[in-house]
Amino acid sequence: MFPLQRGRRLRVNESIRSLVRETTLSPSDFMFPMFIAEGENYKVEISSMPGIFRRSVDLTVLEVKELFDLGIRAVNIYVKVDESLKDNTGKEAWNPDGLMQRAIKEIKAACPEMIVMPDVALDPYSIYGHDGIIANGDIENDSTNEALVKMAVSHAQAGADFVAPSDMMDGRVLRLRQGLDAAGFQNVGIMSYSAKYASAFYGPFRDALDSAPRESDVVVPKDKKTYQMDYSNRLEAIKEALWDVEEGADMVMVKPGIAYLDIVREVKNAVNVPVTVFHVSGEYAMIKAAAERGWLDHDKIMMEQLMCIKRAGASLISTYFAKEAAILLKKE
Ligand code: PBG
Repeated sequence: MFPLQRGRRLRVNESIRSLVRETTLSPSDFMFPMFIAEGENYKVEISSMPGIFRRSVDLTVLEVKELFDLGIRAVNIYVKVDESLKDNTGKEAWNPDGLMQRAIKEIKAACPEMIVMPDVALDPYSIYGHDGIIANGDIENDSTNEALVKMAVSHAQAGADFVAPSDMMDGRVLRLRQGLDAAGFQNVGIMSYSAKYASAFYGPFRDALDSAPRESDVVVPKDKKTYQMDYSNRLEAIKEALWDVEEGADMVMVKPGIAYLDIVREVKNAVNVPVTVFHVSGEYAMIKAAAERGWLDHDKIMMEQLMCIKRAGASLISTYFAKEAAILLKKE
């Protein structure tokens, strides 16, 4: 108690602050989400995500090597699928020569130590922009799971280290684990998007892949609320994370990040596997936009947000800031 105790003694200068710091960041805390497109030597910036590009596989490989040299050890990969390949079954998703499968192969060949985690969900392949197969006006759970198993096995065959189901179908982690094991991929891990909320923060991502739910001639839900979670709920996140661990998930994820750190801590306390957090596209866009206007200090806000996500309980952070933050950490 004051005056015997003075909290400010532990904050007198940077040296003492560094001695008592409870949380630190390093480049291996980050995973970098990457958007891949067809073509060669192709690189186009996403308008709602300055500094983030859709790249062809050749340029993706070069970028992955740079990331590895900066200390980043994992990439999440997403593909922009040509309209002509989209349908309601999502079958392009398990084409052994599909863009995703080629990208995995090339990345692993060029940078074998980089952990490659392809996204497992049908939305980039769906003519309706949904994460599953549409039947009777909704997303059909169990047939979607069967499609996801084929997709995940094709990713494993291409050399993926982990698969990352982001679809929120019930029971998909169990089906993926069984399917991967049956195909001989016992060592391919599952990072499950366990508590994924139906969030407006995903807007820029859907611009990047042109994957938003769309109008159509059949009855289709206009949003993803029948599978992604209601952001009013907390207990439900714990339930979903515990189920996924029981079903065989090696890591669970909470998504989005900053507005959901209460959930991150609750899930962290409830499970005994690493918790990952997705600092999503809209969170990135907000910081970029405010910094462009000179309203916020870009680098300080970036590091503060990443540190706060880690402090809340994240073992890993998937963030579009991964490269910039790794460069900054290297300078320090
Ligand atoms: C697709 C998927 C989404 C994101 C990751 N995987 C979008 C969605 O569910 O609509 C969002 C990532 C981001 O916003 O950065 N299943």
